[in-house]
Amino acid sequence: MRDWREDTEYVDIVSDLLRDPAVQELGQYVQHHHSDRLTHSINVSYQSYVLAKRFHLNARAVARGGLLHDLFFYDWRETKFELGTHAYIHPRVAYRNAEKITDLSPMEKDIILKHMWGSTSALPHYWESVLVDMVDNYQAIAEFFTPATERFKRIKQRKTRKAN
Ligand SMILES: [Fe+2]
Ligand SMILES: [Fe+2]
Repeated sequence: MRDWREDTEYVDIVSDLLRDPAVQELGQYVQHHHSDRLTHSINVSYQSYVLAKRFHLNARAVARGGLLHDLFFYDWRETKFELGTHAYIHPRVAYRNAEKITDLSPMEKDIILKHMWGSTSALPHYWESVLVDMVDNYQAIAEFFTPATERFKRIKQRKTRKAN
C-alpha cells in the first residue's frame, strides 16, 4: 500500500481533520498494543479510501468517517462504563466528539456509529459502513501482530540470503 502522505487527493480530503488538535490528540493513546490511536485511525481511513475507490463507493465519506471512527480520549483497557461495554459505548462517544469538529454527512455518521455493528447489533445503512468495519477489524489484527510480522519477514530474508 502506498504511503498516504504521498496521495495528495487523499490528503486534500482529510487535511482539515488532521490539523485538528482533537484528532492529533489521538496520537497519545495506545490502541492495539503496538500502534497509537492516530496511526490506527489513519490506517483505517486510508485503506478504506483506497478500497472504496476500487469498488466505486463514496471514498470521501469513508476517508473522513474512517479517520474519526475512534475519536475518543480514554484508555479502553482501564475505563469501565456503567451503561455498557467499551465496544458498545465508544462509537457513540466518537460520534459526539466528531460532530464538534466537523459537519458530518448521514453516511459519515453511520460509518462512525456502526463500526462495531457486530457488538452493537445496529445494522449499517451503507456499504461504506460495512467496508470501514471490515478494514477496522483487519487493521486491529495487523497492528497487534506487526512486530511478529516484521520479525518473520527478517527471518525469511535471512534464510533466502543463505540459500542463494
Ligand atoms: Fe472502534
Ligand atoms: Fe478502530
